[in-house]
Amino acid sequence: MQRVDELDLYHLNWDEPSFAADPYTEFDKAREKHPWLAKTDTGYAIFSLQAIRDLMGNDDNLRPSFDGIAEIMECKGSPWGRFCEEQMIALPEREHRVLRDTFAAKFTPRYANNLRPIMRETMERLLSEWVPRERIDFEEFSSYYPVAVTAQMVGAPLDVIPGLRQSMEVMGLAFSMDKTLVPQLDKAFLHMDGFAQDLVATRRANPSESDATDLLDIILDAADDGGISDRQLFDMLIFLFVAGYDTSKNVLTYMMHLMTDHPDIYERCADDLDYCRKVVEETLRMFNPSSAFRFTSEDITYRDVLIPAGTMLFFNLNVSGRDPQAFDDADSFNPDRQIDPARRHVAFGLGKHMCLGQFIARAQLQEGIHLIAQHMKQPHEAGEKGWRPFPGVWGIKGLPIEFTPA
Ligand code: HEM
Repeated sequence: MQRVDELDLYHLNWDEPSFAADPYTEFDKAREKHPWLAKTDTGYAIFSLQAIRDLMGNDDNLRPSFDGIAEIMECKGSPWGRFCEEQMIALPEREHRVLRDTFAAKFTPRYANNLRPIMRETMERLLSEWVPRERIDFEEFSSYYPVAVTAQMVGAPLDVIPGLRQSMEVMGLAFSMDKTLVPQLDKAFLHMDGFAQDLVATRRANPSESDATDLLDIILDAADDGGISDRQLFDMLIFLFVAGYDTSKNVLTYMMHLMTDHPDIYERCADDLDYCRKVVEETLRMFNPSSAFRFTSEDITYRDVLIPAGTMLFFNLNVSGRDPQAFDDADSFNPDRQIDPARRHVAFGLGKHMCLGQFIARAQLQEGIHLIAQHMKQPHEAGEKGWRPFPGVWGIKGLPIEFTPA
């Protein structure tokens, strides 16, 4: 048995801008030194699908690692600093469990399916505005979709969408650890907070008719039943918007990037919603914006490596779908590939914090690509694309495309 700090591991410099454009070559180099572990400036990266499944899927000895962030960013007690430490994903185990149990029962596949008409209506409205332009930044276009769907799900008026989107673009930079961003983060958070408080106050003053309840009613009922405070309720509403925003946008943007190289698959998406399910799953295997970070709360021994308590671990969910040990021909996009259930992608995480919005996200992406493929014909890339930082919420930054409107 060896301690993790005695191993000769590859050092991943993922803060380098070039890393985001092609992390796969770097992870290949890491794999040459060790089958599942690499070093980073602040901890260790776990990148093989099997190791992620084994360690994150049994996460009793792990805890979230948000506690140091407000200190590093020197914003303890500021509006954003408080949210950062008290948001659902950062809470200590017992408090997190109460909140998660309160909401998890509501976020079912059935509920997500009931939202499909709202998703279709939202995408159709967006397409009618953007399709006549023929040349667009697809990332910007897709950024309006998740925020508009979530706004509709909670019965918010459509005029709140641009302001929420702008605030979430700022909050998406939160984990870059850049202290100079704190004033902007505070402002963005306060904007979202004002929106959440107004929304709840308006609904409480004007309750929905019993046959027209929406996600906000469900959250309000669940909060009342679970003894959730108003502060937690506002934070939860904000977190739902934020958690579903750049994750969904970046996956949809990457899906279009794949489609420009696979015109036959794209055409099939226009005709066959069922096929879109396979396309979405294969996209989530090929690309995923998220990684998860944790501290070990006790010593862990895994495959003869001792990881001491207090070690920071990064779970690279974002590249685990390209693991050559888990998938044949991992870099090729094949929605019809047969996947062994034990080797499904882990785009939505595993364990205690596994994504609550996964069924909503999947339905949203399926409905989205089905309608986009019907209206943006023969898309091709029409300019340079950039990349968002690899740590945090990774993805394409700016995807100029041209297409024929239909
Ligand atoms: C393609 C889109 C999405 C991806 C890839 C994604 C991915 C993830 C991942 C990996 C986690 C776990 C993070 C960790 O363990 O540290 C997570 C948590 C979460 N996600 Fe998502 N997500 C997506 C969309 C959504 C949507 C649309 C919503 C809400 C409507 C949502 C709500 C949540 C919530 C509430 C949590 C925290 C759960 C907890 O702490 O118990 N997500 N998501």
